[in-house]
Amino acid sequence: MYTIFDSHAHYNDRRFDEDRETVLQTLPTQGVTAVLNCGTTLDSSEICLRMAEQWDYLYAACGVHPHEAQQEADKIEILPSLLKHPKCVAVGEIGLDYHYDFSPRDIQQQVFERQLQIAKEADLPVIIHDREAHEDTMRLLKQYKPKGVVHCFSGSAEMAKEVVKLGMYVGFGGALTFKGAKKPLEAAAVVPRELLLTETDCPYMAPVPHRGKRCDSSMIPLSAAVIAEIWNCTVEEVLEITTQNAKRLFFAE
Ligand code: NI
Repeated sequence: MYTIFDSHAHYNDRRFDEDRETVLQTLPTQGVTAVLNCGTTLDSSEICLRMAEQWDYLYAACGVHPHEAQQEADKIEILPSLLKHPKCVAVGEIGLDYHYDFSPRDIQQQVFERQLQIAKEADLPVIIHDREAHEDTMRLLKQYKPKGVVHCFSGSAEMAKEVVKLGMYVGFGGALTFKGAKKPLEAAAVVPRELLLTETDCPYMAPVPHRGKRCDSSMIPLSAAVIAEIWNCTVEEVLEITTQNAKRLFFAE
């Protein structure tokens, strides 16, 4: 039996509306022991908290995604009250996305920076989303030095080295299995074993051979198999190590 810790999921997503209960009931029978369900708006963060109350193995990250920065900027001071919930273990997902630019970059940066401060004040780790914004993301991470993880890592091996130098974790998921995934493989190879986390970002980023379909946490062994090859060990060992890593970061174990 696997020991799966999914450090990044979105089970509140509408793509689970039809069978959410069934999926969440089934995952523990497939070896999923813990899932960090990440909010993207203040409302979805609250939903993640309610889901964490309902399901023992679900935990919540509360925060505003860069896509929603403009829409949520005025309400961001509500966030600290959500972080007091006993099952909120991180601030996320937060960061910068210059690929889609759904919110203006200056507002993205402002909302990201404020959440880095809030996370510091609450003494919680952060879940970082960085898409084509590596330079500004690294500048702010170096300035605030948060605990946390850069999720769905898409940077270079050089950037991965900088992230781990800050003591931060690096999250990898389905992208490791994609054809032509040279960059994430090179990045994963430079991350020390004790700083690597497994994740799905489900319902998105399903690993091969499920690419394009709806993803869930039971698919993590397919991504872990790629890491097992890099580490020259078994998938079970990868899942064991990355579960310990996630517990250290999010549960201070
Ligand atoms: Ni996400």
